[in-house]
Amino acid sequence: MRKKIIALDGPAGAGKSSVSKMVAKRLNCTYLDTGAMYRAITYEALKRNISEEKEIVQMVENLNMDICAKEDTMHVFIEGEDITQYLRTSEVSSNVSRISAFQGVRNAMVKLQRKVAEKGNAVLDGRDIGTVVLPDADLKIFLTASVHTRALRRYKELKDTDTTLERIEEEIKRRDNLDMTRKISPLRKADDAILLDNSDLTLEETADKIISYWKKVSE
Ligand code: DC
Repeated sequence: MRKKIIALDGPAGAGKSSVSKMVAKRLNCTYLDTGAMYRAITYEALKRNISEEKEIVQMVENLNMDICAKEDTMHVFIEGEDITQYLRTSEVSSNVSRISAFQGVRNAMVKLQRKVAEKGNAVLDGRDIGTVVLPDADLKIFLTASVHTRALRRYKELKDTDTTLERIEEEIKRRDNLDMTRKISPLRKADDAILLDNSDLTLEETADKIISYWKKVSE
């Protein structure tokens, strides 16, 4: 049977993680949330109180980072500690765009991502999977939704209780802008990716669509 590689890119809050998990589970694939990897680096840099690019890249190059990726769960370990629960705080969210734009950080993460994909049967979600990490992926989806829909989704999944929907909308716009305008690997739809706007779809319906696209390309 053909080895599947599905690349799912798109802006923050489009439902990439939830949809990728569903698709991976239904197709019996590994799921890799590449945003969580950049979040892990950001969490670790904040914890160590370092902010200069040089220091962060040096940290990444010497870091013992493990990813445990299965069908619908993904855990990130740094120096043996499972830090998954700390990756979605507002503090990490507001610093991750800056840190994920560093070339040295991206080089190390892309290397790890390609290693997971090498084994095949994987769904990877991120910003640059179809354009940079895996340009030969079998199926590329660019998943998006309106800013309001995306903010609402993120609001519901946020652990912090003191934030507002308006603040999340602003944060999403700021992050979209940073992710799309950065020089290195900006967020953009690959020419051969399918554009899927799921503002009016449930996550299950979105996953159904992707599975139907998959069936078409694997025929
Ligand atoms: O998908 P997410 O919101 O958890 O991603 C967090 C940040 O990581 C996002 O602002 C951009 C960055 N990112 C990236 O630059 N490249 C990826 N492949 C995935 C995420």
